[in-house]
Amino acid sequence: MTKLLVYCPEKAADKIAEAKNLGRVIKYTEAQTPTIGNVWFDIPIINPASAERLGYPTQKPVALYERIIKASCPEGGIVMDPFAGCATTCVAAERLGRQWVGIDLWNNASAVVAERMERECADMFGGSIITSSTPPIRTDDGETAAPYLRAKVRVHEPKGDRMSRSEMYDHLIEQYGSVCQGCDRKFDDPRYLELDHNTPRADGGINHISNRILLCGPCNRLKSNTYTLSGLRKENKKRGYMCSG
Ligand SMILES: C[S@@+](CC[C@H](N)C(=O)[O-])C[C@H]1O[C@@H](n2cnc3c(N)ncnc32)[C@H](O)[C@@H]1O
Ligand SMILES: [Zn+2]
Repeated sequence: MTKLLVYCPEKAADKIAEAKNLGRVIKYTEAQTPTIGNVWFDIPIINPASAERLGYPTQKPVALYERIIKASCPEGGIVMDPFAGCATTCVAAERLGRQWVGIDLWNNASAVVAERMERECADMFGGSIITSSTPPIRTDDGETAAPYLRAKVRVHEPKGDRMSRSEMYDHLIEQYGSVCQGCDRKFDDPRYLELDHNTPRADGGINHISNRILLCGPCNRLKSNTYTLSGLRKENKKRGYMCSG
């Protein structure tokens, strides 16, 4: 006989009525565990008397990192904590069958980690932990790691008096008229024009007037952080948004 499994009777009232009419067996089960929220209250801080506490001031509970690792790293994957402290992340990763790397500039970190691993995870390594204070030998022939990563050059605003937003606005209106620099549309009311950056701030564009433009609302939204002014004009041409007259 077909059964109807019900977790939440209030939400399934009509299905229950229908199943009853059809003479089906209705089975009520325990409510399912709710999905975890953004704020976690259910993992308590480490009690001062707990055996887990090592005396390291900012130590977090292993249970907390276990949850984070389970949610974000597959079994056998690698977890790296570059601020490992007393290695709570490494212990949690080891327990969950993940590979791990822990880094810390604290002088005593390696000793604390070795001691903790010995105490809490040695059985997993066949009873002994081998430690070394000799740095590992490079196997990359001294090549720069990830040479394609480039630090963004910080752009400095030119020295001298700064124009206020409204001064920049007036300056650009005077220079170009009430015209959107993205689509060349002229507005009888300059309030339709918005002050924007040519090179977006996110790409290091400065606030200075030399990097400011006036755009109509639709052009400003299209440009967003994606285009420079010339990119926006090209895109407008492609989409047929340029004002011809
Ligand atoms: C908040 S503690 C980490 C606690 C750890 N998550 C735990 O629960 O056991 C932060 C650690 O980052 C280390 N640290 C700070 N700046 C660092 C840096 N630039 N490089 C490496 N480690 C750093 C400190 O020595 C400290 O041990
Ligand atoms: Zn426009």
